[in-house]
Amino acid sequence: MHLGTLFWLLNVAVAYAQTSRRLDINSVSSFNASSSSSFIVPAAGQLTVSVALCSSSNPRFFVTNASTTSIPSSSGGQDVFEIFLSDGHGNWTGKFDGGGLLAIEASGEVPFEVGVSDNGPMHQALSDPAFLGDTTANQAIIFSYPFAAWDFAEPRYPNYTLPQANLTAPTPPSSAPNFTIFVSTTTSSALNSLPKTGCALNAQRSEGVVSSQSAWLKDESGWREQWILSQLAPSTNYTAFVIQDGTKISRPIMFVTKSATFACPLAASLPYCPGIAYSVPLPAPPSADAVYDASNLPESITEPLISSLTNFTTSLLTFACGRDWYSPIVSCADCQREYRKWLCTISFPRCGEASPNGSNTLTRSSADPSATGVRADAFAQQVLSALVPQPTSAKSRNENFPDMGSEYSVLLPCLETCNAVDRACPSFLGFRCPVRRFNAAASYGVGYIDSGDEDGEAGRGMTGVAQDTFGNIWCNAG
Ligand SMILES: *[C@@H]1O[C@H](CO)[C@@H](O)[C@H](O)[C@H]1NC(C)=O
Ligand SMILES: *[C@@H]1O[C@H](CO)[C@@H](O)[C@H](O)[C@H]1NC(C)=O
Ligand SMILES: *[C@@H]1O[C@H](CO)[C@@H](O)[C@H](O)[C@H]1NC(C)=O
Ligand SMILES: *[C@@H]1O[C@H](CO)[C@@H](O)[C@H](O)[C@H]1NC(C)=O
Ligand SMILES: *[C@@H]1O[C@H](CO)[C@@H](O)[C@H](O)[C@H]1NC(C)=O
Ligand SMILES: *[C@@H]1O[C@H](CO)[C@@H](O)[C@H](O)[C@H]1NC(C)=O
Ligand SMILES: *[C@@H]1O[C@H](CO)[C@@H](O)[C@H](O)[C@H]1NC(C)=O
Ligand SMILES: *[C@@H]1O[C@H](CO)[C@@H](O)[C@H](O)[C@H]1NC(C)=O
Ligand SMILES: *[C@@H]1O[C@H](CO)[C@@H](O)[C@H](O)[C@H]1NC(C)=O
Repeated sequence: MHLGTLFWLLNVAVAYAQTSRRLDINSVSSFNASSSSSFIVPAAGQLTVSVALCSSSNPRFFVTNASTTSIPSSSGGQDVFEIFLSDGHGNWTGKFDGGGLLAIEASGEVPFEVGVSDNGPMHQALSDPAFLGDTTANQAIIFSYPFAAWDFAEPRYPNYTLPQANLTAPTPPSSAPNFTIFVSTTTSSALNSLPKTGCALNAQRSEGVVSSQSAWLKDESGWREQWILSQLAPSTNYTAFVIQDGTKISRPIMFVTKSATFACPLAASLPYCPGIAYSVPLPAPPSADAVYDASNLPESITEPLISSLTNFTTSLLTFACGRDWYSPIVSCADCQREYRKWLCTISFPRCGEASPNGSNTLTRSSADPSATGVRADAFAQQVLSALVPQPTSAKSRNENFPDMGSEYSVLLPCLETCNAVDRACPSFLGFRCPVRRFNAAASYGVGYIDSGDEDGEAGRGMTGVAQDTFGNIWCNAG
């Protein structure tokens, strides 16, 4: 061998020994590194290498799965692959039978994370969005995407036992991920320049204060993490990301806090009404940051609700549930669940407010509070939320609610929440929803999710959803 080549080989080997660091399988490593560094990928068959940038920078990453000591770079070569970044994330999957190397090309030191996994990318930008409960002037309820399935065992005949009307909260799964939340004013320049990765966002100060965080089974879509945030600014458009185990990041959602005069407090974490997570027309709860939950809601509200759900369940069980079937697709358990959701939505009127700068500003002086509800298609130019002003003199839509003592607007329930009961329950119960063409818009938001015509085509309404990820809320889905 030519002496020069040998010298060069030695040189590479020395450099390699000095700067290469070994990556472990199924773990995440953090580095602040420059172009002189490389990282050894262990030999282990099929692996995914994922990288996440922790600050705004434009490095390039190269990986090779060849058994080589030459550092992969933009000059390419056999079995050299670039890991392309998108919003700070990148990944490459392939066979590492003889191990491999990862290298970075950057000007200066760049903080980043690497994950090597035999089970898909450790760093991920998920397509699942976070979910907004509701806001007040300075609080918000935010949920993660569902992270664990709801393990409801359908009851069986002859022991067809339905859940108690006064449900107790189920025990969260023991293997819940480690969730964090990141909230920033939507217009913040820091937010807009940062890569949307767990390490970049977790290193920033999140706005607001987390007053509580826990797993919650909101509905049959599964377990979500629930955050109650306080100390937010009024009338502000925020962006929220949910971060799982520091490496997986949700699709962001935007939400808008209410104006400073908005008086309705939040209600949430009610085991018998697990879907309720919004502002309700009640006087202020005991302390400033507090929300209404099962411990401080007046019994004058909860008792009639649970009694009526108990009575409904009794009537439902006069049917030989589980032995006879009134439908090939739904059961008594579905009926009870949809009825519970509807009853809770009706029993807890929801407060709302037109978004300050949003296109859904309530421009009419007022909808007649006692009569008309809102049809999504009432105005040709824009879709208005199903908001109906309630003058102080108006009796609350739930007669068991004490006087709120100030004006507010109610956000009507979506008609679909009622129709779901109609579809899930046996007809002998006589449950009927108002008819679209006739009186439905008097008490429900009509034509938002399903179309407003008599067919009520699913998802073909003006918005197709009760709320979107931009912070618009059209009607109360419960
Ligand atoms: C490297 O990975 C590519 C893509 O998976 C594969 O085609 C190639 O055979 C691998 N090379 C080695 C040396 O394993
Ligand atoms: C990375 O290194 C650079 C230069 O040494 C330094 O300015 C920067 O603060 C470091 N970043 C982190 C996250 O340690
Ligand atoms: C992995 O990278 C590919 C592009 O190389 C990208 O399309 C895909 O979304 C990435 N996967 C994840 C989970 O980020
Ligand atoms: C009937 O089912 C309930 C709940 O599924 C269970 O707690 C109870 O023990 C069962 N009773 C009998 C007699 O199997
Ligand atoms: C509404 O617009 C004003 C003025 O442009 C701005 O200061 C405020 O943050 C905006 N509010 C929201 C919720 O976007
Ligand atoms: C959860 O993740 C955060 C941020 O990644 C970290 O600071 C914290 O130590 C983790 N907690 C646990 C219990 O792992
Ligand atoms: C519901 O159950 C809780 C405890 O499980 C109890 O404290 C509460 O009084 C019950 N509510 C009603 C209305 O029965
Ligand atoms: C439930 O039934 C009982 C007994 O028939 C009755 O006293 C009670 O008023 C009913 N509750 C509601 C909310 O209708
Ligand atoms: C929040 O801000 C975003 C970005 O400017 C905008 O698209 C969205 O409509 C705003 N949300 C509301 C409810 O105004």
